Amino acid sequence: MGLVSNQRGSRTETTQEGLPVTVSSGGGAVPKKKWSNLMALFVVLVVIAEIAFLGKLDVVKNASMVDTFADLLYLSRVAVEGGGGDGDDDDSRLTVIRSVRNSVAESCEEWLEREDGVTYLRDFTKEPVLVSGADQDWKSCSVGCKFGFNQDKKLDAVFGEPQAGTASILRSMESAEYYHVNKIDVARRKGYNIVMTTSLSSDVPVGYFSWAEYDIMAPVEPKTEGALAAAFISNCGANNFRLQALEALEKANIKIDSYGACHRNHDGRVNKVETLKRYKFSLAFENSNEEDYVTEKFFQSLVAGTVPVFVGAPNIEDFAPYPGSVLHIKKLEDAESIAKTMKHLAENPEAYNQSLRWKYEGPSDSFKALVDMAAVHSSCRLCIHVATTIRENEEKSPAFKKRPCKCTRGSETVHHIYVRERGRFETESIYLRSSNLTLEALKSAVALKFKSLNHVPIWKPERPEILRGGNELKIYRIYPIGLTQRQALYSFSFKGDEDFRSHLDRNPCAKFEVIFV
Ligand SMILES: *[C@@H]1O[C@H](CO)[C@@H](O)[C@H](O)[C@H]1NC(C)=O
Ligand SMILES: *[C@@H]1O[C@H](CO)[C@@H](O)[C@H](O)[C@H]1NC(C)=O
Repeated sequence: MGLVSNQRGSRTETTQEGLPVTVSSGGGAVPKKKWSNLMALFVVLVVIAEIAFLGKLDVVKNASMVDTFADLLYLSRVAVEGGGGDGDDDDSRLTVIRSVRNSVAESCEEWLEREDGVTYLRDFTKEPVLVSGADQDWKSCSVGCKFGFNQDKKLDAVFGEPQAGTASILRSMESAEYYHVNKIDVARRKGYNIVMTTSLSSDVPVGYFSWAEYDIMAPVEPKTEGALAAAFISNCGANNFRLQALEALEKANIKIDSYGACHRNHDGRVNKVETLKRYKFSLAFENSNEEDYVTEKFFQSLVAGTVPVFVGAPNIEDFAPYPGSVLHIKKLEDAESIAKTMKHLAENPEAYNQSLRWKYEGPSDSFKALVDMAAVHSSCRLCIHVATTIRENEEKSPAFKKRPCKCTRGSETVHHIYVRERGRFETESIYLRSSNLTLEALKSAVALKFKSLNHVPIWKPERPEILRGGNELKIYRIYPIGLTQRQALYSFSFKGDEDFRSHLDRNPCAKFEVIFV
């Protein structure tokens, strides 16, 4: 008797875990009833036979039989409830047999696809995200995305001063050192729901970088100028030490041709990038030392193929096309040693050439992953952010809470997760098995899925031709949807497989974003 209740226990548990046995087909169920009853009787007989059989086995074998037994029950129930019999017993029998076969092959994945596939209330293809602004339909955006002042429709988000009832957006590319409200916590306190600044920690970062704006892979040209460095600094005044840094370099005998108003010694009416190309170094001095605030001063130096000597964002290495390709004056005291490095590089063509090797071999994956973000216009990324938030709110409703998100059969559990490429809105279903629930398995499942879809990375048409690669999909990062780009690109990672598994436990139907490089 003890054995029997064990069996029951195991059966109930598997059912709760979300076995397909709980699924019953809707229409056409009535004609099947007779057969179902017979089938139920059959199940009972099998159960009795099984129990009798089990009774003869020793304890160890019993333990291993439990799974088999649960599977058997599962198959029987599928046979009872599945299938689309038309009332004719012979046909029904065939259908049932086929249905058993299908169910075995079908397995958890298809069941999860059906059960988890709750339809969202809002179809963004019919009801696009509406944002205040000059009329524009962002047609290439992966979610319906419109800007305008259409009065008949409720706007999802508005630019400008926070007002009750609608999400408000702060968008600015200025340094927070000069525009205090651009600090994310200050903006939040003022009531802005969506912050778009140069900070990669903001909701929708708006950087100065993009493949489209800068011909980053333009070839290196001969360095023909006598002076080591060129400077285009229009205003010496700044909150940081850029003026002092300039003076410190001069004091260390670095010859600088200055085309800007600051310490001008050359006529500034020249093409900046073309001029920079002839110099070994360029002084890319920002007016504030703020994280992620990296402007055209830096990116123009990269285009020109001149080594940037940088004052500004403390994390400029995150923006470097290759480790060691930027000379960073972190604090004024560094100026002297940077001057030494400049002289050393200037006198050693090979060492100098090494600092520009990314121009020949291509930038690092880390750099590509950063600049690729801008392959999708910030307005489209804003719409994706808004639409994602709308869906997340809807997922708190009972219909979504009821999704099984995983399916257990015997000793194996299949987890249903959703993955999308960064820059796109819609997600793809991916299934992971508990027997192999590792980060490595996640990666290969994602690669396999997107390969099977012949997925083309969103940055493909944007990148310079030589950086587009072939048709391979190289995964750079996979991270939970909702992280900032700062977290996604630089600080987040699962602390091993155990951490990943516990994330899945805490987040049923977990959603991820993948960055391909
Ligand atoms: C710099 O290195 C690249 C290969 O990395 C080479 O093609 C190029 O000719 C070198 N340039 C100089 C000036 O040495
Ligand atoms: C687990 O997944 C990894 C990555 O996909 C794969 O290489 C490995 O063979 C799998 N192991 C098992 C036991 O399936």
